[in-house]
Amino acid sequence: MSTIAIFGANGTIGSRILDEALQRGHQVTAVVRDPAKITTTHPNLTVTTGDVLAPASVAAVAKDQDVLISAVGGGDGPGHLATIKPAAESLVAGLRTLGDAAPRLITVGGAGSLRTPDGKQVWDAEGLPEFLLQIMHAHGDALDFYRSVSDVRWTNLSPAASIEPGERTGSYRTATDDLVTAVDGSSRISTEDYAVAVLDEVEQPRHLGERFTVGY
Ligand SMILES: NC(=O)c1ccc[n+]([C@@H]2O[C@H](COP(=O)([O-])OP(=O)(O)OC[C@H]3O[C@@H](n4cnc5c(N)ncnc54)[C@H](OP(=O)(O)O)[C@@H]3O)[C@@H](O)[C@H]2O)c1
Repeated sequence: MSTIAIFGANGTIGSRILDEALQRGHQVTAVVRDPAKITTTHPNLTVTTGDVLAPASVAAVAKDQDVLISAVGGGDGPGHLATIKPAAESLVAGLRTLGDAAPRLITVGGAGSLRTPDGKQVWDAEGLPEFLLQIMHAHGDALDFYRSVSDVRWTNLSPAASIEPGERTGSYRTATDDLVTAVDGSSRISTEDYAVAVLDEVEQPRHLGERFTVGY
């Protein structure tokens, strides 16, 4: 059993990570801006408030945890630009204040920077709308930042190109920097199976200090 705090625990992806962590018997702290948005009750669940953009808030919730997960998003394109890399910097700054007692950090990333079979990156595809490019590059900038960090145990998990609520199959494939695609060329993962991959990484760390990705 691990102690796990989750920023964004009421979000689309964060709520699945919360459910998967509770189902596996971990002690979970949901860190939210509005506690009313957490409707789950469970003996292993604590709900607290926090702001991922404030290092002191990060340190306060991360203290005494084994793992800190961030599944925050910024809504639209400009919101992501204002949230994702600043959150990365705040998470790392907050964890640094805890020194050797800092928990591992696992963050939800984006698919935009993943390599495609033609040797390009997902965000090089023609015709992508501006808001999506902003979201992709917000995650790319955050990943560049994480890659400059060697004193915090971070892992960044990029979803497949498509991630939507669906079935928990318990099966997925991983890669490091290459988009995971099925034989039909599609790249997708359910939020439930993405959460399985996050909790598998919590329980068996395989990607310390790197980004990896999951898909079918
Ligand atoms: N294929 C892909 O690459 C792909 C696809 C989908 C999503 N994603 C990424 O996955 C992440 C999560 O997506 P999602 O769909 O689950 O997002 P979501 O449903 O919009 O949830 C975002 C969460 O972040 C929280 N949050 C935002 N700012 C915060 C702050 N300053 N402090 C604390 N919490 C904060 C929100 O809290 P409130 O409820 O209080 O606002 C909410 O719980 C995003 O970064 C998104 O870009 C990637």
